[in-house]
Amino acid sequence: MPEKQRTMLVTSALPYANGPIHLGHLVEYIQTDIWVRFQKMRGHDCVYVCADDAHGTPIMLRAQHEGIAPEALISRVADEHRADFADFLIGFDNYHSTHSEENRQLSALIYQRLRAAGHIETATITQAYDPHKQMFLPDRFIKGECPRCGAADQYGDSCEVCGATYAPTELKNPVSAVSGATPVEKQSLHYFFRLADFEDSLRAWTAGGHLQPEVSNKLGEWFKDGLRNWDISRDAPYFGFEIPSAQDKYFYVWLDAPIGYLASFKHYCERNGRDFDAYLKEGGDTELYHFIGKDIIYFHALFWPAMLEGAGLRKPDAIFAHGFLTVNGQKMSKSRGTFIKARTYLEHLNPEYLRYYFAAKLDACVGDIDLNLEDFTQRVNSDLVGKYVNIASRSANFIVKQFDGRLLGVDEFCDDADIFDAYTQGINAQTQSVAALYEAREYSQAMRKIMEFAAAINQYFDEQEPWKLAKDTARRDRLHKVCSRILHGFHQLSVLLAPVLPGITRRVARELFGLSRDFTWDDLAPKRFPTRINPFKHLAQRIDSDKVQAMIDASQEDMTRSPTTPDPSADEPIAETIGFEDFAKLDLRVARIVKAEAVDGADKLLRLTLDLGGETRNVFAGIKSAYQPADLEGKLTVMVANLAPRKMRFGVSEGMVLAAGPGGKELYILEPHAGARPGMRIK
Ligand code: MSP
Ligand code: ZN
Repeated sequence: MPEKQRTMLVTSALPYANGPIHLGHLVEYIQTDIWVRFQKMRGHDCVYVCADDAHGTPIMLRAQHEGIAPEALISRVADEHRADFADFLIGFDNYHSTHSEENRQLSALIYQRLRAAGHIETATITQAYDPHKQMFLPDRFIKGECPRCGAADQYGDSCEVCGATYAPTELKNPVSAVSGATPVEKQSLHYFFRLADFEDSLRAWTAGGHLQPEVSNKLGEWFKDGLRNWDISRDAPYFGFEIPSAQDKYFYVWLDAPIGYLASFKHYCERNGRDFDAYLKEGGDTELYHFIGKDIIYFHALFWPAMLEGAGLRKPDAIFAHGFLTVNGQKMSKSRGTFIKARTYLEHLNPEYLRYYFAAKLDACVGDIDLNLEDFTQRVNSDLVGKYVNIASRSANFIVKQFDGRLLGVDEFCDDADIFDAYTQGINAQTQSVAALYEAREYSQAMRKIMEFAAAINQYFDEQEPWKLAKDTARRDRLHKVCSRILHGFHQLSVLLAPVLPGITRRVARELFGLSRDFTWDDLAPKRFPTRINPFKHLAQRIDSDKVQAMIDASQEDMTRSPTTPDPSADEPIAETIGFEDFAKLDLRVARIVKAEAVDGADKLLRLTLDLGGETRNVFAGIKSAYQPADLEGKLTVMVANLAPRKMRFGVSEGMVLAAGPGGKELYILEPHAGARPGMRIK
């Protein structure tokens, strides 16, 4: 029964243009991409758009730090993001930027409509101001002591030690994290969006089945706290759009970010002859879905629908929030090597393995998901390679060699009408339930069903023993039927897995089954089973756990200063005072660099052999970008001699040498004054 064709617009949250895509981000893009591919395979008209979120203070400061214009920064990062997404097979129909003409116009339009309808008001507020940098400081750029418990080094508006929340102006001994200057208070006129004007309709909308139940409940709490005015303006200097008819005021990045969804789609419509307005008007028959992480629910489930309503535009049909990624059960961490960039992963492992693993873990809830690297290796090896790929690799060549590649149709290998009915009904029930699970974003259950199906086919293979049938000419017919049936199962599995494994299944469709197109959901119909198969070619190999370790090592190595990621501490003020006891814990020693050499497979490391006056140490130092190894040999330097040894892919590092500078070529090892000898303690 063909479904009615749906017209859908789907988005993922727009990643900030000041940092690389990491595996945490990919949870979302993979989750969305699977859903979109599923909808497209079902024949729906589904457009998937995204963009870089290019505005805001962090991006402005980062560009300044690199000494380039913000436009240059965002265009470089956009290229990196696009390449990462493409390599993870994220099939955006359009990838744009919030710093675009479409977005400037749409932001102005929506703002003007809100203003005309009386939803914008102004008020003078007092804010922290950096007199040295001459800019207002966002909360996260102010550090100081907690007004409640006195803990040092607390950022912005809440204390990590005692949990107190406060206004950043209440911090004691505050400093600007940008310049180290003491902030002063300064007044400024700000523009506010009157969120409370929409309380009634937001209450109805958030309870109207557009959100996951957990999210609706959370919003209930926010309603209880009361809907406050939302500050949508920022003062110059700011990288963003100027507010129409305001002096030196810019839209806060979160105002134009969600509008960026529409801007990207508009850009797409203009190039593809689509009617943009048809998607925006209220009461139309297009559907709009936003996939987001749980940290940005407030913006999407309150501000965004309110803005749309205030501007007379349609609201989303649903917002699908997901949880956060942990790696090996913990928050991603640079020092543990579990803060893994998309690019680092790609240098070591196949992107479709991560797609499969995330699919196997994702459901429609907001809970966090864990990437356990051992489980990852084992799941991919046993499910994808062991169960799925194995079916084709074991059976295709019987058909190719013995029957010249000719497959029997489903009615031929189920030669009795009853068998045919039972077989096709069984398959039908399976595939319909998988479809329902994809639709409901219950991917982990879908993967479980698919793998049960794969296990059953493997069991059939083992029971039928085709390798024995192949030796017996009297049983050739049986061999033909058995292998055709097994490959029909493989064909079904491939169609069912296509949303998750678009690359592998594309090769199955085109190379193995000789189709000139990718799979669609209709290929599950028995009569669509291809009549021929080509020789099996390698599809996917097992994960070697060394590769996983290499990826972790490389992620740890990424932390050692790299030329493209300037050391943020360079901008930071001198740290809090410490006591002598803290200092005395460091065993700093003079060391002679006896040998320095490049390390195979490490872009940034040199292996140093250090003489500590009798004792020899092996130390890996991230200084390759700044030194020729030969120039270091014979030099004296300073090392931390009592740092716990750390196992790396290349060997154990037994200490750390000290160097100064932001990174890249600008990195200088410390050298003691003439007369110092290896082993001397620094005090
Ligand atoms: N720019 C905003 C979104 C604007 S949408 C109008 C933003 N950017 S982000 O780069 O920080 O995050 C992009 C998406 O990735 C968000 O949905 C966020 O929740 C998600 N994730 C970022 N880190 C994540 C994990 N560690 N785990 C899972 N998702 C994560 O927010
Ligand atoms: Zn505190």
